[in-house]
Amino acid sequence: MTTPERRLARAETALADTEARYAAILESAMDAVITIDESQRVVLFNQAAEAMFGCPRSEALSGSLDRFLPERFRAAHHGHIAAFGVAGATNRRMGHNTVLSALRSDGTEFPIEASISKAGAAGHHLYTVILRDITRRKSVEDALRHSQSELRELSAQVLQAREDEKTRIARELHDELGQQLTALKMDLAWAQEKLPAGQPELAGKLARMNETLDATVTATRRISADLRPLMLDDLGLAEAAEWLVEDFRQRSGIECNLVLRNAEAVSDLPSTTATALYRMLQESLTNVARHSQATHVKVELEVEGEVAVLVVTDDGRGIKASDRTKSRSFGLKGLRERAHYLGGTAQIEPAPGAGTCVAVRVPAVTTESEP
Ligand SMILES: Nc1ncnc2c1ncn2[C@@H]1O[C@H](COP(=O)(O)OP(=O)(O)OP(=O)(O)O)[C@@H](O)[C@H]1O
Ligand SMILES: [Mg+2]
Repeated sequence: MTTPERRLARAETALADTEARYAAILESAMDAVITIDESQRVVLFNQAAEAMFGCPRSEALSGSLDRFLPERFRAAHHGHIAAFGVAGATNRRMGHNTVLSALRSDGTEFPIEASISKAGAAGHHLYTVILRDITRRKSVEDALRHSQSELRELSAQVLQAREDEKTRIARELHDELGQQLTALKMDLAWAQEKLPAGQPELAGKLARMNETLDATVTATRRISADLRPLMLDDLGLAEAAEWLVEDFRQRSGIECNLVLRNAEAVSDLPSTTATALYRMLQESLTNVARHSQATHVKVELEVEGEVAVLVVTDDGRGIKASDRTKSRSFGLKGLRERAHYLGGTAQIEPAPGAGTCVAVRVPAVTTESEP
């Protein structure tokens, strides 16, 4: 053999080795690999493709790719391949944001994830599609989504049941107990009036009874309002928020100001949204009092177009990322859950500078009440 012949033989052996290595990789790949030519004839079909489509390689080779596509997608697919042929990119993911479907030999469709690449010159391109059967993943995802929505539904039911129960107890306390305490107070006033002079011991006793009665009336009002401020139902969220902020200021001694914008729209919010926002404000303020060591809180409440916005910002010690997912804390989880259920969002972040900022954005119109 002459030297050039030897070189050629070596090159041929090296090429054969490389091809054998690639073939082995292709055959051991878990993903199906299919190469087609410009006329969409199959020129390469690996073992995983055989298993996935239930089609022997001998049958697939030189046939059209169409047999592996559900009929309704064939025309569009031809268009996509042609467009990809003239596009600048040499590879891309197929089917952005949509689930692609493929067709097995037995006629069943299954969801896939695929990427495509091209090699060769224009007019003589070879296209290679690498695809993965995602039937199992999709069914697990569907099941997960279903169970999440069931859980969400359940937690909304539980919240609603608690809310109904609190409203009922608040009304009973206010109406029943409140009325009877008022009647007692009137009777006591009557007794004090009728008390003959010269009975200092009895008069002192009655005066102390009166004080106890006053304290009981105040406590009943406070408990009832804590359960549910009846003004939320009667006067709307704007006034209820004002009351809550005032009550917080008095009880905690922390400076708190409320910025209400578009108050009329705030008070016109649907009752479920108003209740949720009220509870979220209540939780945020309770957290400020319990955890923040803040000296000042700002509450902003407004309706901006179709969105109701609640922002509570304190100037306290701030919140750590790990605080937001504490296993035995339910306040912030409930807050996020309420926002989610209404189709909105809740962000709990360190405030710029120092402190914590809770920002809730929920639709101002419930889908049910939309025409
Ligand atoms: N405004 C805040 N400033 C600083 N830390 C906060 C603030 N709000 C919440 N945190 C931290 O986040 C944690 C979680 O709050 P979350 O409301 O979920 O639970 P909690 O208040 O501890 O208990 P609960 O279930 O009764 O609400 C708190 O324990 C606290 O450490
Ligand atoms: Mg809390």
